[in-house]
Amino acid sequence: MQNNDPLKPGYNFDAHLVAGLTPIIEGDELDFVIDRPNGMKGFIINITSQGEGTIFHDNEAFDVKSGDLLLFPPSATHFYHRKKDNASWFHRWVYFRPRAFWNNWLCWHEQHNGVYLTKGLDSSTISQIERLFIDIEYISKSDIPYRDDLAINLLEQLLIRCKSIQPDVVSKPLDPRVIEAMNYMTQNLNQNFTLEDIAHFTCLSASRLGHLFRDEVGMTITQWRDDQRISRAKQLLVTTNYSVNHIGRLIGYTDPLYFSRVFKRKAGVSPKLYREQIS
Ligand code: FCB
Repeated sequence: MQNNDPLKPGYNFDAHLVAGLTPIIEGDELDFVIDRPNGMKGFIINITSQGEGTIFHDNEAFDVKSGDLLLFPPSATHFYHRKKDNASWFHRWVYFRPRAFWNNWLCWHEQHNGVYLTKGLDSSTISQIERLFIDIEYISKSDIPYRDDLAINLLEQLLIRCKSIQPDVVSKPLDPRVIEAMNYMTQNLNQNFTLEDIAHFTCLSASRLGHLFRDEVGMTITQWRDDQRISRAKQLLVTTNYSVNHIGRLIGYTDPLYFSRVFKRKAGVSPKLYREQIS
């Protein structure tokens, strides 16, 4: 069954960004369980604006209330509904396919059954965050010029904000040369660049940059680059029909075997299986 209403089952989320508000009222037509055992192709970020919801069942079940945030990564199970003893559950959500460099923003501190959860925010943070949800929905449904760019830009703000309030995030800004190195890598993901190339770009020696990057980011440059590449590969595997080898080349792995090995190490399954599981 195919329909044009994302609030009802059967809607085809074949888009880069879809945003909405789901107002669930007891006994109403939307008062059903949202049940997607294999998750979705993209991420969903979700905030409760009114009432309470229950996520998962049995031992995995937990409740969310006003201001609580959820982040469902692709293929994480969706199972949620109005909390039984509450008359309503209104939640705002944004469905999106991420860009590779958003990777770091999409890992939160607390995770339940593959879904990230952030609770206990103060009211001013909640209203700033909810405002972004509202603006994203408004802009994405408008016909103003640069609508898609604006919506993506607001979504980036939302994701950065949500990441920045995680308890494990330190407020110290990254060294600008580390940021330059990251920018260089994300812009040249498909190139066969060396540590020396990045070091040259940031005006540091390769060994100084290597140490600085590790101290600031907590992983080596190669690990960070591979994370970005694999995240981009995952995106291409589920959003295109390109062959695995072609995707490997697009993200800078000329050797298909090496690409499969790195992918399997990071994602736990081969690129082919990952594509099959998500589709
Ligand atoms: C709607 C749900 C909402 C979200 C989007 C993708 O039907 O109400 O929570 O899952 O789908």
